Amino acid sequence: MPSLNPTLVSLLLLLATPQATAAAANDDVDAGFDAYAAAQVMVDKASHSWEWGTAAEALLELHNPELSVFGSNPFPGGKIPPADPSTTALAYAKQFINRNSQTLVDDSAVGDPASLGVSAVLLGQSDSVYIGAAEREADFLLNVAPRYSNGAISHRPDVAELWADNMAMSFPFLAYLAVEQNSTSLMSTTVQQCGLQRQILKPSNSLSWQHIIGPQSQDTGLWSTSNGWAGYGMVRVLHTLQKWSGSASMTAEAAQLKSWIKEILDGAMQAGSDGGLLRNYLNDASWFGEISGTAVLSAVAYRMAVNDPAMFPQSYVAWADANRKTLATKQDGNGLFSPAVNPYDWHDRNKYTAGSPEGQAFAVYLYTAYRDCVNAGVCQA
Ligand SMILES: *[C@@H]1O[C@H](CO)[C@@H](O)[C@H](O)[C@H]1NC(C)=O
Repeated sequence: MPSLNPTLVSLLLLLATPQATAAAANDDVDAGFDAYAAAQVMVDKASHSWEWGTAAEALLELHNPELSVFGSNPFPGGKIPPADPSTTALAYAKQFINRNSQTLVDDSAVGDPASLGVSAVLLGQSDSVYIGAAEREADFLLNVAPRYSNGAISHRPDVAELWADNMAMSFPFLAYLAVEQNSTSLMSTTVQQCGLQRQILKPSNSLSWQHIIGPQSQDTGLWSTSNGWAGYGMVRVLHTLQKWSGSASMTAEAAQLKSWIKEILDGAMQAGSDGGLLRNYLNDASWFGEISGTAVLSAVAYRMAVNDPAMFPQSYVAWADANRKTLATKQDGNGLFSPAVNPYDWHDRNKYTAGSPEGQAFAVYLYTAYRDCVNAGVCQA
């Protein structure tokens, strides 16, 4: 080893210490499957706005968890953290984001481009053009998109129609932008919107949510994946709210979000399974079990077991562990999980085996949620 001068050695130690601490908090664990290979398939297959945003979140949680809202201090000083635009997730997201339009991607859905909004806000810490882009996206959601009769933001631009999917697109972004803008009012609006979406999408006789309510593509089935979009979306809103000092007094809103997430998890846990996987429509025994909804809902269970172990005790961890172990048998040597539901046609009765970009991202969420649960001492390695 070449000799180093003492100043350089102490500089290296200074640099090494925070990294060593971060690595200890985010130690990789053995989940029984390869999350990095899953992420590679996700990146290779993603080709739509919501897939890019979903993938960017997965890459952030996988490679830079300290920047994600699941990190221990994602808003130092009550602010969005400075973020290196060359980090994996941000360099990935950047190529898809419009710098100059009303919305972050030109798209036929209202919510889907907003899935890239958290990336835009993080990119905005080093290039303010991306803050402008994020603000125009939020203006579109809040002031241009149609509203359902109860005030819920539509997922379609031409009619008022609510999709549970939008819970993972628009609202984690609006909550994150509330931190950027230091706006308790936008944070509060975001939680209210989650409640308004639930008011229409959750039938009174069911814990699980319906997929789509509206005049264009109505689907009153309890789609497993869309319950996962809703659950994980609200998990992200909840963590954004709780970890931001500006919303310290919003404990009632946090409690509401937790109860809405619990309904979705309890509905999924009571729905039974097909060969260890949740059915594509949770309450319809004619449907096959598939990986996408199973992975994302299990990730929700791990996140909440860490967030509130009294409200989400070990029975939630045990359920997620059983699902994770089944899922581990569904990954091939290239990292691809199947069978999934066709991500472009939820009514398709053929098992999708070509690699669902969102399903692959959900497997990454499952991994990061399990990793963080083990490192928190709540889950067993
Ligand atoms: C946010 O706004 C509050 C209330 O006006 C203020 O006290 C606080 O310093 C602001 N925080 C930041 C990070 O600007």
